[in-house]
Amino acid sequence: MDKFVIQGGKRLGGTVSVSGAKNATLALMPAAILAPGTSRLGNTPALRDVTTMTSLLRTMGMQIDFRENLLTLDSTNVDRYEAPYEHVKKMRASIYVLGPLISRYGRAKVSLPGGCAWGPRPVNLHIEGLRKLGADIELEGGYIIAKADRLHGARIHFDVSSVGATGNVMMAASLARGTTLIENAAMEPEITALAEFLNAMGARIGGMGTNRLEIEGVDLLHPAAIMTIPDRIEAGTFLLAAAITGGSVTLERVNPEHLSALTAKLEDAGCTLRSSPDSLSLTAHAPLRSVDVTAAIYPGFPTDMQAQWTSLMAVASGTAVVTDSIYFDRFKHVPELVRLGADIELKENAAVIRGVTRLTGAKVMSTDLRASASLILAGLVASGTTEVLRVYHIDRGYEAIEKKLQSLGAEIRREAGEEF
Ligand code: UD1
Repeated sequence: MDKFVIQGGKRLGGTVSVSGAKNATLALMPAAILAPGTSRLGNTPALRDVTTMTSLLRTMGMQIDFRENLLTLDSTNVDRYEAPYEHVKKMRASIYVLGPLISRYGRAKVSLPGGCAWGPRPVNLHIEGLRKLGADIELEGGYIIAKADRLHGARIHFDVSSVGATGNVMMAASLARGTTLIENAAMEPEITALAEFLNAMGARIGGMGTNRLEIEGVDLLHPAAIMTIPDRIEAGTFLLAAAITGGSVTLERVNPEHLSALTAKLEDAGCTLRSSPDSLSLTAHAPLRSVDVTAAIYPGFPTDMQAQWTSLMAVASGTAVVTDSIYFDRFKHVPELVRLGADIELKENAAVIRGVTRLTGAKVMSTDLRASASLILAGLVASGTTEVLRVYHIDRGYEAIEKKLQSLGAEIRREAGEEF
């Protein structure tokens, strides 16, 4: 397993281009199941999660080609309707095949994802939503086994706003008979990107970007081609890399509107931000001020930026409280940050961070994707050498992160890792 070796203390500067959004891509790829023929997704990031979704869809008979960030998906020969445990255990987003398979083929067998590194992540809302559309779903032997004649429209009110459940139900409802209303739908940009792709395929989805989606089912969808939106979490991570090193960085091919909760907090911390419709620049001014955040559903502060914000606050002046209202246990990065000299106390679903003037390099271990990003950020500012072990987590969701950081002046290299 590879590791990153980082010499901290370099101020980052320059321009970096943001890749396509992982979480949009992982929804758009299974959507291609819904239409016979070849769909194209431009600006697809080269990520391990995209490779995992590619192998899953290939086992179903989808023909997939990936070249220079253009993904071509031909669903003509899809003839297996199963997502086996071996795939789903690697990546929970595999559950996105459930809605399209039931809706198009009237059957699906998808492994239950189980928990993840930081705690339970149920899929009850996916199942309840699809049942309301008329799917007959049983849980057996660790699998979701679904059958349906043609699905029908329904009114679905989600008790909790869920990105995945909204996406799954929206895909299924696109080919249902009649109209579906999703209330308390997720408003995340990745869900809007999925709705735009489905509409490009001939679906009739209204209310995009709001928490009330109306989907008028159609008899047939056709293939489509779109460009994937920029990855707001990758973009946010680079903004924080600039902020934590006292640097000045410009992001290109970004949508600043998707990052407004984060950029407002960065301004509160004392950074200067400037934006155009597709670029965003940050200049840091020392000392950074401590700023509390509460991770919440969009347009709130993203839970996927919570670990990275914790790293930034570790070296800010004052005390910050970082609360996660979505994933109560998502704090596996904290003990590792403490190994680098951070002063952080955990209280239920919050981290109380007393800023220190200096972090010092050490060996730390990645536990999940965003925790890994937070450790890299801390390594960029820690004095001496930081080794971030098990970086395969980072390769799930960041395209060539070390190359992009090197281009901004960071001293970071990938090496063959070690077990411990
Ligand atoms: C997606 C993102 C992930 C992000 C998360 C929250 C993808 C591939 N992943 O995950 O990066 O951290 O949104 O922004 O897009 N819940 C239920 N029952 C369900 C489904 C969810 O109770 O059936 C709860 C979850 O436990 C959580 C909340 O709803 O507390 C939000 O989760 P959800 O939006 O579904 O996350 P994912 O789609 O899995």
